[in-house]
Amino acid sequence: MAVDLLLGLQWGDEGKGKIVDYLTKNYDIIARFQGGPNAGHTLEFDGIKHVLHTIPSGIFHENSINLVGNGVVIDPVIFKRELDNLAKFNLDLAAKLVISRKAHLILPTHRLLDAASEAAKGKAKIGSTLKGIGPTYMDKTGRNGIRVGDLELPTWKEKYRSLADKHEAMIKFYDVDVQYNLDELETEFFEAVKVLKSLQFIDSEEYLHQAQVNQKKILAEGAQGSLLDIDFGTYPFVTSSNTTAAGACTGLGIAPNKIKEVFGIFKAYTTRVGSGPFPTELFDEDGKRMAKVGNEFGATTGRPRRCGWLDLVALKYAVHVNGVTQLMMMKADVLSGFETIKVCTAYQYNDQLISHLPYSIEEEYVQPVYQSFKGWKQDLTKVSKENDLPKELMDYIEFLENELQVPIKIVSVGPDRTQTIIR
Ligand code: IMP
Repeated sequence: MAVDLLLGLQWGDEGKGKIVDYLTKNYDIIARFQGGPNAGHTLEFDGIKHVLHTIPSGIFHENSINLVGNGVVIDPVIFKRELDNLAKFNLDLAAKLVISRKAHLILPTHRLLDAASEAAKGKAKIGSTLKGIGPTYMDKTGRNGIRVGDLELPTWKEKYRSLADKHEAMIKFYDVDVQYNLDELETEFFEAVKVLKSLQFIDSEEYLHQAQVNQKKILAEGAQGSLLDIDFGTYPFVTSSNTTAAGACTGLGIAPNKIKEVFGIFKAYTTRVGSGPFPTELFDEDGKRMAKVGNEFGATTGRPRRCGWLDLVALKYAVHVNGVTQLMMMKADVLSGFETIKVCTAYQYNDQLISHLPYSIEEEYVQPVYQSFKGWKQDLTKVSKENDLPKELMDYIEFLENELQVPIKIVSVGPDRTQTIIR
């Protein structure tokens, strides 16, 4: 039985949570494969908005199992908060939510290290969400990390102490002002670990193997976006995991030949939160309008997102790196009312016109070259059928499909589950 994969193709915040929630009815298992509580997956239904950080976006559906894979990093404190927020929904979390023993834990000192590292970088900071993601993946690849499975061993607290002590020494080394009370943070952490231990820990690669043998349908859920990938993103302004398709193999233990559909999610324009290059960024009224109408504020940090026109050069790159088989265009409704819609189709790179993503896309090297499209006035938020979409939007969609050579199967026209047009 094949596994389908769902990923963001830009700098995150494409609307993956909404689409996973929408697709969940077709799957038995929703499996998160990378990232941690730096993500904020927003779901809206029955007039209520939910933001999930670590828990997969299939959690609200009765029949799905939600699996947190080995590639994910878990902060027990944030995880507990997420569980507390779900308490009112009477979900059987002990049965519906399973966690890989090989997932790594974010310790309180990882968060402090993140803050110290960012403060020490000054103007060159990454713009991290400060959730401890970078330091935790550093300990993972440095072979020092603490994993969920360690919590079942009597020695884990010794391991914890020696790692936390090392982190404290490292924080001092940064020589920046990071205020903290470790006793308080640790009390909160150990309480949260107890709650985490009440859930089912599993050998998730074996669990997923058996699920495949038993013909279960699996959807792998990515977090962040392809341009934040540690290898293929705009390094160093990236996150610390592989957000691209290959990350689903290493983050779940799924073999590449088992992946069937790769759903690529993108916004009809582009946003980015945090630092780093963004060739199509707008600083004018158009950018402000996208931010306002699109309510472009980070779901995890509340920071305003930077906005700009769709960057087709970067989108093509993401489609290629991921092997996308179906596209989903989000937030088409936000572009209603613009006289002209622009798409960046090439870069002026030094003295050349190029149509691929070069090594550096900082503005001193790259200038976007735009193609313009006629905009539309119609409010799309009540449209439910493709035939009722304005001709100008259909022209835009067909142009993108032609350029990307991948069909756009879903057009989202609002945050609610119901505001989803299938083509
Ligand atoms: P970190 O992963 O928290 O260290 O953040 C590294 C970079 O990735 C920063 O620019 C963040 O703003 C960005 N980032 C991390 N997670 C997300 C996300 O879920 N959506 C959008 N940007 C993110």
